[in-house]
Amino acid sequence: MSIYAIWNNKGGVGKSYLTFQIASEYAWKNKDKKVLVVDLCPQANSSSMLLGGMERGENNLAKIHAPLPGMSRQTISGYIDERITSPYVSPNSGAKYATQVITYNKKISDNLFLIVGDERLEIQSSRVMGATFPGPQDAWRAVHLWIRDLIYDVVTMWKDEDVTVFIDCNPSFSIYTELALTAAKRLLIPFSADGSSKRSAKAVLSLVYGVVRHPGDQQSEFFLNSSRERMALPQIYMYIGNRLTQMNNSSASAFKTVVNEIGDEIWGIWQKSPNNFCIHPSGAATPRSQREFKRMFQYEVNDANTASVFSGAMGIPISRLTAGQKTLFGRKVTVNQSQLDKQVPNISRLVANIE
Ligand SMILES: Nc1ncnc2c1ncn2[C@@H]1O[C@H](COP(=O)(O)OP(=O)(O)O)[C@@H](O)[C@H]1O
Ligand SMILES: [Mg+2]
Repeated sequence: MSIYAIWNNKGGVGKSYLTFQIASEYAWKNKDKKVLVVDLCPQANSSSMLLGGMERGENNLAKIHAPLPGMSRQTISGYIDERITSPYVSPNSGAKYATQVITYNKKISDNLFLIVGDERLEIQSSRVMGATFPGPQDAWRAVHLWIRDLIYDVVTMWKDEDVTVFIDCNPSFSIYTELALTAAKRLLIPFSADGSSKRSAKAVLSLVYGVVRHPGDQQSEFFLNSSRERMALPQIYMYIGNRLTQMNNSSASAFKTVVNEIGDEIWGIWQKSPNNFCIHPSGAATPRSQREFKRMFQYEVNDANTASVFSGAMGIPISRLTAGQKTLFGRKVTVNQSQLDKQVPNISRLVANIE
């Protein structure tokens, strides 16, 4: 089983969009596996896209969120509620929170399941935090394992099936992001090609791996506690320059320059601590040059303009989208083949490299 967290502590870099595209395409390409998406972001953007987009998806979310008398919500918050009442002993009840997405959205393969996102995460977070303090000695550890417990409950239901999990994260380094990173074995880091993304790449490396920028800088509680508890950190699997625009050669090369800048930053971490990276595919040789390193870890996803907007708004994975005239909220829009050709091969390559 592989568990991927998609995280960068900057908002708007494409975590949710890529979770939607990658998980959907991965499920279509790996029909022999089960795919689980855990939406750990209170915005629930990836859930909304998976469940059918801005209109259908939002209606479906509203239906799923509507309380039924005597029933817990079939969302991530329903599970978190259970854990708040049983923080240190797993209720082994995670399986009942998985929704088969095809029952809401026919464009999604039948092997894709979702732990639906929920804005209630926001109000629950102080109680989750609270559970890490008092209680037994290993309170911090037990609470940080909640999402892993949830995933294992679902995997246990699926018995011998091969499972791949994608966790969409909150941008901020909130308690939920910590829980996601503890559950994950691998990390996909999307970033946009702008100046501030370089700083966010540094922030990710410092928060997760304790890389200090100046001598004497404090390391994150998460890093310190994970080390104390001997809990494994996820390994960097890919960093993804996302939403690159190719208007002309000059803009393409400007984006390339920024992506490479960030790549240099991450290469620096590799040189100091290669153990924080996951060599892939399994059995591949360890990169020995920066070129080999980039070939293994650096990915790019272009902006597909109208095709991207339509894909997200309608909950149709871009690899399933055809060119032509479409209707988007009563208006005619055109999805061009050239737009699809910008992004579909990127997603295919990325997914082909996910194990
Ligand atoms: N490769 C892309 N091409 C076009 N639009 C994109 C792409 N990636 C993300 N977007 C759009 O950018 C916006 C922010 O992306 P989102 O996934 O919500 O970011 P995050 O989850 O990191 O906050 C969304 O409107 C999304 O549809
Ligand atoms: Mg998001």
